[in-house]
Amino acid sequence: MSVMKAVILAAGAGTRMKSDQPKVIHKVLDRTMLDYVIEAAYEAGASEICVIVGHGRDAVMHTIKHPVSFVVQEEQLGTGHAVMQAQEFIQGEGNVLVLFGDTPLITGESLSKLKTTHEEGRHGVTVLTTRVDDPTGYGRIIRDEQGHFLKSVEHKDAEQDERKVNEINSGMYMFKAEALSKALGQITNDNVQGEYYLPDTLSFIREDGYPVEAMELDDYTETLGVNNKVQLFEATSIMRKRINYKHMESGVTMVDANQVYIGKDVIVEADVIIYPGTSIEGKSVIKAGTHIGPNSKVIDSVIESNATIEQSTVLSSHIGEHTTVGPYAYIRPNSEIGSHVKVGDFVEIKNATIGDGTKISHLTYVGDADVGKGVNFGCGTVTVNYDGVNKHRTTIKDHAFIGCNTNLVSPVTIEENAYTAAGSTITKNVPHDALGIARTRQENKIDWVKKKRH
Ligand code: UD1
Ligand code: CA
Repeated sequence: MSVMKAVILAAGAGTRMKSDQPKVIHKVLDRTMLDYVIEAAYEAGASEICVIVGHGRDAVMHTIKHPVSFVVQEEQLGTGHAVMQAQEFIQGEGNVLVLFGDTPLITGESLSKLKTTHEEGRHGVTVLTTRVDDPTGYGRIIRDEQGHFLKSVEHKDAEQDERKVNEINSGMYMFKAEALSKALGQITNDNVQGEYYLPDTLSFIREDGYPVEAMELDDYTETLGVNNKVQLFEATSIMRKRINYKHMESGVTMVDANQVYIGKDVIVEADVIIYPGTSIEGKSVIKAGTHIGPNSKVIDSVIESNATIEQSTVLSSHIGEHTTVGPYAYIRPNSEIGSHVKVGDFVEIKNATIGDGTKISHLTYVGDADVGKGVNFGCGTVTVNYDGVNKHRTTIKDHAFIGCNTNLVSPVTIEENAYTAAGSTITKNVPHDALGIARTRQENKIDWVKKKRH
C-alpha cells in the first residue's frame, strides 16, 4: 500500500448559490460540504490533504474543522490550473486523490474502492464515473469497443454522438503522483472555455504509456455536485435519508424520518424514539429508551438511557438516565445533570451540576451553580450569578428546599436540608437545617381601602 495524498478543489465562487458565503462552507445537516469531502478522503486513507482555495478563502480557512493545508489559486483558470497550484504538495511517491469541495455525498468506502482498483491495475490515473439520466453539462467518458477508457471530453467540446453518452466524469480521480505532475505541465487552455481542464491530463498520461481506466459507481448520488440552494436541499435530503435509515435499521424509532436531522457522527441506541422537528448534531450520544422531541435540538451532548427531552435545546451537556427535560427548557453548555432529575418548563440551566433526584419544575434560572441531590426548587428561582463584571457560583447542598421566587445572590451557599423562604433575596450563606428568610415582614393595614376611598 503506497502513500496517498489528497487535493480538494474549492476555489470557485459558486455564483449560483446567490450567497455572500463561499459555496463549499454551506452546510449539509451539521457540517460544511467541504468537511464531508475531507472526512471521506481521510477515511479512504489520505495521509495529508491540501485544499485549493480562492473565492472567500478566509471564510473557508476559518470554518473548516479538520487539519489540512491550503494553497491559494488567485484566478480560477480551470480545474487543471487549480491542481497545478499544488505542484509542490503532490511531488513524490505514491498516489494523489483529487476531489471537489462541493460533492458532499461521496463516501470513504467508494474512494477506498477507487484506490484499490487504481493500485491493483497499476494505473497512471483512474477516474471515477457514473451514469445519469441527463448528462447535460458534464464531461463524458468515451470508451473503446472493448469498453476501455479512451478519453474524457467536456460537454461544450463534445461532438453530437459523444453528447449521447450518459457515463459522466464525476470530477474525482486517483492519480499516480509522478504521472500527474508530468501531465500538468502538458495541458493547455486551447478549448471552447479557454480553461486548463484537469480531464485533459488523462490523455497525456495514457500517451505516456500508463494504463488509464474509469471506475463506474453504481450509486450516482455519491457524485452529485451542489451548485445552487435547490441542489443543497437535495444533497441534504439524501444525506438525511442515508443517516436516518441506518439508525432505523438498527432499532431507532422515528415517527417521521423526513423531519429528523441527525449528524453523521451521532450515536443513537436502539429503542430511542425521535419525534418530528428534532435535530441531533456533533458528537452527541443518545442512549437506549430515551425519547427526544418534538422540536428539540441536541448538540455535542450525551443523553443517558430512558431520559425524555421534549421541545427543548441541550448544548454541550450531559443528561442522566430517567431525567426529564422540558417542555421548553434550555440546557446551555457545560451542564452536568444527574439521573431522575426533573427540569421542567421554562427552565434555563448553564454551566451547572445538578445532583440526582433534584426537581427544578418551572420558570427558573440555574447558572454557574453546584446543586446537590434531592433539592427542590420552587417556581421562579434565580441564581444571581453576574454582578456586572464577574460571574460567581452558587452552591446548594443535598435536600435543600428553595422557596418560590428566591434570588440567590452568588457567591452564596445553601447548606444541606436548609430552606429559603419564598420571595427571599438570599445574600448570606444559609446553615444546614436552617430557614433563610430575607424579605420585609407583612403588615396588614386594617380598613386601609375604605379610608382611601372615603
Ligand atoms: C467538472 C469537470 C467535468 C465533470 C464535472 C463533474 C473539468 C474541466 N470538468 O466540470 O468533466 O463532469 O466537473 O461535476 O474539470 N475549481 C477551482 N478552480 C478552478 C476551477 C474550478 O477550484 O479554476 C473548482 C470549483 O470550485 C468546483 C470544481 O473545481 O468545486 C469544479 O469546477 P467546475 O468549473 O464547476 O467544473 P465543471 O464545469 O462542473
Ligand atoms: Ca460543477
